Order: sequence, then structure tokens, then C-alpha cells
Amino acid sequence: MSNNTTGTDDADPDGAQSTDWADAIGSGGLVVVSNRQPYSHTYDGDDIAVEVQAGGLTAGLDPVMQSVGGTWVAWGDGDADREVVDEDDCVPAPPEDPGYTLRRVWLDDEEVDDYYYGFSNQVLWPICHSALTNVTEWERYWEQYQSVNERFVDAVEAHTDPGDIVWFQDYHFALSPAIARERVADDTVLMQFWHIPWPAWDTFRGCPHGEAILEGLLGNDLLVFHVPRYRENFLHCVETALDEAEVDHEAGTVTYDGYETQVTEFPMGVQVDEIAQRAATDEAEEFWADFTEKYNVADTVAVGVDRLDYSKGIPERLRALEQFWERNPEWRGQLTYVEKGSETRSQIPAYQAIQQRIEDAVERVNDRFGTDDWTPVLSFEEYISKEALASLYRHSDLALISPIRDGMNLVAQEYVAAQIDEDGVLILSDQAGAGRMLDAALMVKPQNTGAFTDAIEEALSMRDAEKRARMQRLREQVAENDLATWTGLNLRAAMALRDGEGSVREPELPTGGQP
Ligand code: G6P
Repeated sequence: MSNNTTGTDDADPDGAQSTDWADAIGSGGLVVVSNRQPYSHTYDGDDIAVEVQAGGLTAGLDPVMQSVGGTWVAWGDGDADREVVDEDDCVPAPPEDPGYTLRRVWLDDEEVDDYYYGFSNQVLWPICHSALTNVTEWERYWEQYQSVNERFVDAVEAHTDPGDIVWFQDYHFALSPAIARERVADDTVLMQFWHIPWPAWDTFRGCPHGEAILEGLLGNDLLVFHVPRYRENFLHCVETALDEAEVDHEAGTVTYDGYETQVTEFPMGVQVDEIAQRAATDEAEEFWADFTEKYNVADTVAVGVDRLDYSKGIPERLRALEQFWERNPEWRGQLTYVEKGSETRSQIPAYQAIQQRIEDAVERVNDRFGTDDWTPVLSFEEYISKEALASLYRHSDLALISPIRDGMNLVAQEYVAAQIDEDGVLILSDQAGAGRMLDAALMVKPQNTGAFTDAIEEALSMRDAEKRARMQRLREQVAENDLATWTGLNLRAAMALRDGEGSVREPELPTGGQP
């Protein structure tokens, strides 16, 4: 078997640590449910290769599972996945050093079209990112979403014992908790982390089947968001849409249908130490030397790392860069912008449209300013190793993270974690959840091109002492809120509920002043 890695986000699966919560849960006591699986098996000629999904969600939870054990239930989307499972559709994971069980759920083409591309990514994703004009709903999307949510619960039921913790991930499973509540023992804790924003009521009221979505989520004992703003939005939606629901904003509880759900926020983090270590490896240095030579990269580098999604604000960023080079001709030839993209959900028309817009914008800027020996925007989608990515972050003088709306944005945190020389500047959209934590970034509104351009100018003329002071503060903030902290907060809260200890609301975490 061979190993390779896909994706762009970089919360590393290595480095599982033993922690108090791992011991307290006990082996077998945790069942994680996500749409994406952490490892898939694919044919590579006659061989079977293992692909590691490096997206923030899966890569972030893999070390948790490695230290706790238990079962991870996910969609088996690899073409060789069926070859390697046992009669219960299970395979040990990670394949080279098993620590837990990966239980695969099979989806046929219709289910993928209607549950994944349909209701998940053409209804819930755009609603939660306040992109109502991208919502497309067909009745069959909803039907398949319901039935796939039930099928995942079938798998959960087969692997859950009384007293276990079942941890659903994200918007693909809004209905599963209420279905599971009917089927698992009373002392099984059902919890969910919602990785994307929760919108205000005036947006959520446009959601087809919105009431059923809320009722499904209220099957959880514990529902967690990244930041208080999303929790408040959720509670307000429940209060407005469900007459019978009793909402206590202070305590963060909803009582509905005789059942109480605790609602709180724990911001997700990244594996700060591992990313910093990777940035300092020989492999990282070799990558940078080859990369800069091959592409004739300018002395000053700006970077963006994104899934090519309409929520990421990539055309807006390219407009600001265009205006920057227009206003500052002396920077032509002196600054290269590197866009490390990763294709995503391309079967959906809104994604085809944004990917085309990005391609056109890159071409426009390069045609306008490029010279024989300088390409202003270097855009590529090929896989690069984690060390190479850390190196790209470390050597970039600025990072441009400009989502129009984003639940958290782990790339902003990864950039900071890799800044071991403490000399880079983070320009961050105030529409990302990460803005709450990272208050020493230069904040921008992505669609305000003039102010975004000002921020690029400010970053490039900032004194070294100020850069260092800001970066040191950012590095403290990501270290305080790293992945292990997030995992501990979630699992300790679940155990408190299991052990009947009442409220799980934590004291307010350090913030950058945003709600
Ligand atoms: C976001 C979502 C995740 C999702 C990831 C990749 O981060 O919150 O749930 O897995 O994007 O998207 P994809 O559709 O490829 O799984």
C-alpha cells in the first residue's frame, strides 16, 4: 500500500496525545460521526492506496480518535473502500498503526447527489453562509437528506453502548440527533459540533424545512458552535420558530418536547506545536528553495490557502491586489501573491461559477501587470506536503484571509502557528469566526476594496517591531486555543453531562472583542 494526502487545511492527524479526557472516556466509549472519512482506500493500478483527508475537520478529529479509541462512522467514498472492510463494514484506522475503528456507510449515486450535493451543500451550506441566492432545493434533496441521516443513525446504533458519547459533526447530520435520541439508551450523550456559521433568524427563516432542522438538532444533549454570535443566533431561531421551546439565553439551554439541550461555544484550534515543528524541517526549507527558484518568486510574498468556495472571498482579494498594484507601481515585480487553492464540490453550478470567476480574475491581473520575468499571481491546486505548506506560511510576508463568511477559518491559525520567525502580517476578514480570537490581525471587510488595499499597504510598510509585537500576540492566542484545548473542552463538557454535573457553560474565553 502507498500513502498520500489530499486537501489544503492542515490540522495534522499526527501526534496523538494521552490526556485526562481520553482516560476518562475509556476505550470504545466515543463514537464520532462525520460525512468525510479520515482515510479512504483507492485503486492505484493493481495496488490499493490510502488517502489521508487533510481537511480541518477530519484531520483535527483523527488525533482525538487515536488517543481515545472507539468508532468513527463516515461515508465510504473511496473506490477501493469496500475491498478492505470486514463483514460489518469496518476497517482499523489509521491503517498503518490502528487505534480505532472506522465504520463506513455506503451511499449510492442518488444519495450523493441529493443528500451531499443537494440538501447539505445547496441548502444548508448557503443558508448558514447567508448566501440565500445560492439555495437550490428539490423535494428529493430533502427526502434523501432524511433517509441518509437515518442510515447513519443505524450505524451509530450498532456501535453504541449505554454511557457512550456520540459526537456528530457539522451540517450533514442535522436530523440524526433526534432520530438517535429515540433509539439509544438514556445515558448515552448525544452531542454535535457545528463547524460553520449559524445565521440570524432573518436569514434562517428562508431555510426550507427549517423547523425540522431545529427539532433534529434539539435531539442533542449538547450543541456547540465556534463563537457566541452563532450560539445566540441559534437560540433566537429556536425561540422564534418553535412556539413550544423554552430558551434560557443566560444558561444556554433549550427545553423542547420535555428534553433539555445545552448550547455553548468552543472555538476550534489547530495543532500549533506540530505546525511550528514542520515549518522548521529540512523538507520545508528544500521546498521553499525549489519553489522560489522554479517560479521566480519576488522577494516579498503574500499567501492565500482556500477551498475554491464562494464563501472564501477570493475574487474580492484579487480585486484588492489589483488595486494595490495599480496604486503602487513600484511594487510591480516586488510582490508575488501565491494562491494555493483546492477544488471542491464542482458538480454544483454555484461552485463552477466561482471557480471560473477566480480563474478569470487571476488571468486579468496577470495580463494587466505581469512581465516576462514576473507573474503577479501564482495560482496552483496541486497537492503539497504538510511540510511544504508550513514552509509557504512561514516564508510569506503576509497572509490574505478574506472570507465573506466563515465559521472559523483554520488557515488563519495555521499561518500564525507556522510564523516561527514572527515577521509576517495577518490580514483577516472580520467575517471569519477566527476574528474573535486573533485581535492583532489587520481586520478588513473583504468587499471594501479601498480599505482592503489600504490594509495591504499598511502591512507592507509596517515597522519590524510592530510586526513582531502583533505576531507574538497572535501566536499566544492560537497556542492558548489549540486543538487539544478545543477537544478537551468538548469532551469534558460531554462527560459532565453524562455524569450529571449540570451546566457545561465555560467562563468566557479570551477574545478580540467581537461577539
Ligand atoms: C468545511 C465543512 C466540513 C467539510 C469541509 C470540506 O470545512 O465544515 O464539514 O468536510 O468543508 O468540504 P467537503 O464538501 O469536501 O467535505
